Amino acid sequence: MRTVHDDVKKVLLTKEEIDNRIAELGKQITNDYAGKEIVMICLLNGAAWFATDLSRAIETDMRMDFMVASSYGNGTNTSGNVKVLLDVRTDITNKHVLVVDDIIDTGTTFKAITDMLASRGVASIKTCALCDKKERRTTGLEADYIGFVIPDEFVVGFGLDYAGNYRNLPYIGVLKPSVYARAH
Ligand code: IMP
Ligand code: MG
Repeated sequence: MRTVHDDVKKVLLTKEEIDNRIAELGKQITNDYAGKEIVMICLLNGAAWFATDLSRAIETDMRMDFMVASSYGNGTNTSGNVKVLLDVRTDITNKHVLVVDDIIDTGTTFKAITDMLASRGVASIKTCALCDKKERRTTGLEADYIGFVIPDEFVVGFGLDYAGNYRNLPYIGVLKPSVYARAH
């Protein structure tokens, strides 16, 4: 039987490495926000896997809301144009907002989203991403919390997709070249 694992060339971050790092980030965020309530904003779809795990590692009061922002088409390159397809319903005025994404690449998505949310009179706004392709940054944006700095390779798993697939991989890996060659 073919499984999704057969399409993976190599595993970059194992489930155990990711789980351990999320536990550490949760502790750090819990300490940094002691006595405050966080409004975590999860950028769908990719950050859902990471953000829900991270929320369970955070021990301050928190609310969770979701946003859909899109800057990519179906391929592996940014279009540079961020659209908000679904906005949060939470009133974030005077709130401590933590925006969570799966990966920062150029930083275009985080920059656009944080600028937009910051204009709503938040008490504070910080960013958190599971992966960071630091060498690809074009926006000068630095995230406040980073799980892993990774090399400039297209990765999938733990929420990260290729053309909508592979988000369900419990680890982060690189696909075989043959996957890109075949039509979806
Ligand atoms: P940015 O706006 O260029 O920082 O891109 C961020 C978004 O690009 C992420 O939320 C992902 O959806 C997508 N992305 C960037 N690199 C990868 C990757 O290696 N695999 C899957 N998605 C990626
Ligand atoms: Mg995304």
